[in-house]
Amino acid sequence: MAAGADGVEIHGANSYLVNQFLFPSTNQRTDQYGGSLDNRIRFAVEVATAVADEIGADRTGIRPSPGNPFQLGDLAEDDPHELYPHLVRALAPLDLAYLHLAHGGNEGLLGTLRELWPNTLILNRAGTDIATRAKDIENGIADVITVGSMALANPDLVERIRAGAPLNTRPRHLLRRRLGRLHGLPHLRRLTRAPGARGSRLPRALRRTHRTARQR
Ligand SMILES: Cc1cc2nc3c(=O)[nH]c(=O)nc-3n(C[C@H](O)[C@H](O)[C@H](O)COP(=O)(O)O)c2cc1C
Repeated sequence: MAAGADGVEIHGANSYLVNQFLFPSTNQRTDQYGGSLDNRIRFAVEVATAVADEIGADRTGIRPSPGNPFQLGDLAEDDPHELYPHLVRALAPLDLAYLHLAHGGNEGLLGTLRELWPNTLILNRAGTDIATRAKDIENGIADVITVGSMALANPDLVERIRAGAPLNTRPRHLLRRRLGRLHGLPHLRRLTRAPGARGSRLPRALRRTHRTARQR
């Protein structure tokens, strides 16, 4: 926060530490942080409480991953239908800025969590197209959607979506190489050179956008 960030998102997803506390497959503790549902969510709730106390609940978000689309190591979700509602019920009174779900695919569970969460719900459906994600806003299941690799592959993503233009393919190879080795990025094409757009005239709205950008 001292460096100028607007907030902190607690990474409770993808088999990292907070996530590991949630399920017996990775949490074999016998103290007050392991065993019962209350005990397994305790670490996540305590971390969220501590961060919110420090910087303000309105600057704190948390990101669990029901269905865990990026499972690493041995984590298996033993009782997701009991655990995640229990976690979200316990987080709700903290009045955090948002809950960011890395959604692994169980629509029933997603609906339950939506009902239990009173504040902004951010949703990420990894690997799906933009139309699929936008439907979550239209249907009211999410307040905000996030895009990861789609934004990495398309430096002009917003213009492309506005113009209904084709998107560069998601760079799955970047995910395999892991973050920190993003040397593939400079080769990603802007819209003027996108597959399908090459040699063809751009939509009028987009030509205007590009002219304006060049004039700046
Ligand atoms: C290049 C790249 C590296 C990533 N590295 C991590 C990581 O180290 N840890 C993690 O939890 N998620 C990582 N992710 C996953 C993202 O946090 C996010 O869940 C994912 O990109 C969402 O799917 P989407 O890109 O289809 O929107 C990475 C994603 C990409 C594209």
